[in-house]
Amino acid sequence: MTEPRPRVWVSQPLFDDVIARLEEYFQVVSASDVAEYTPEQISSALSEADGALVTLNERIGAEQVAAAPKLRAVANVGVGYNNLDIPALSAAGITATNTPDVLTETTADFGFALLMATARRITESERWLREGHWRQWSFQTMLGADLHGSTLGILGMGRVGQGIARRASGFDMKVLYHNRSRLPEATERETRASYAEFDELLAQADHLMLVLPYSKQSHHILGAAALAKMKPTATLVNIARGGIVDEDALAAALAGGRLAAAGLDVFEGEPAINPRLLDLRNVVLTPHIASGSLATRRAMVSLAVDNLIAALGYGPSAGSPPNPIRA
Ligand code: GLV
Repeated sequence: MTEPRPRVWVSQPLFDDVIARLEEYFQVVSASDVAEYTPEQISSALSEADGALVTLNERIGAEQVAAAPKLRAVANVGVGYNNLDIPALSAAGITATNTPDVLTETTADFGFALLMATARRITESERWLREGHWRQWSFQTMLGADLHGSTLGILGMGRVGQGIARRASGFDMKVLYHNRSRLPEATERETRASYAEFDELLAQADHLMLVLPYSKQSHHILGAAALAKMKPTATLVNIARGGIVDEDALAAALAGGRLAAAGLDVFEGEPAINPRLLDLRNVVLTPHIASGSLATRRAMVSLAVDNLIAALGYGPSAGSPPNPIRA
């Protein structure tokens, strides 16, 4: 009698042709529609699974781990993994993986697009035009802030932060960054970025880009006190995780003229959006699409598939997935 194939749960519809590679090794149970799961539904989906391929929507914590006695590997399709309780997974001997590198340049491109849309009021002016407000060309319509010659602050100088810094030198921006640890001098030279303390970054930045991982330490790091240290003419762009910014404090700063504008791709309660942000005209809102080019999203799924196959002990890298997350 042949051994039954390991069971793998794929939590969302991804790219069928890429996911099909899992079928060479596993019995695959895939969601056919985009689904929002309760914690109990995730526990139930994992209860018979040997492996899982999940997105940032699916939270896997101690409760799900306890309900999944056979689970050996979880492949996250994304670089951020705050949806996974890594200590709980690791204590149960479950390998977790993510998808770094393949999304770096696409995400940095998008960070720049969001920065430009925010500073130059692109979506706000388009809305205004479509609403029929444009009666006559005027010298003072929708005046924004320059990127060239300005100071860009980058909070979080990992791969994506460095990609943004490289783009900024094409715009003749001065780049300051703050990071848990200072980068080697050679990387600072190559990215033309200078280290700054957190408060100095806030005070100097004409545009501040958030690219740091979400954790207990970074929760609401951009709250009322930090926002008050920024220039009232500054723009803030968040392509990291919503919980890094205190959205009520941000809305109050934007409404009170204490910050010029914000570009947000991520939200604390996404897909729900804080209604105070929705009421403001000086905010650009996008639905968490920074890594969303077709080629990159396919590459992310493909890398997650490689990770899952290897983590479950199959394929050319059996036992050594390319991107294990260290506890
Ligand atoms: C997207 O937000 C990711 O972490 O990949």
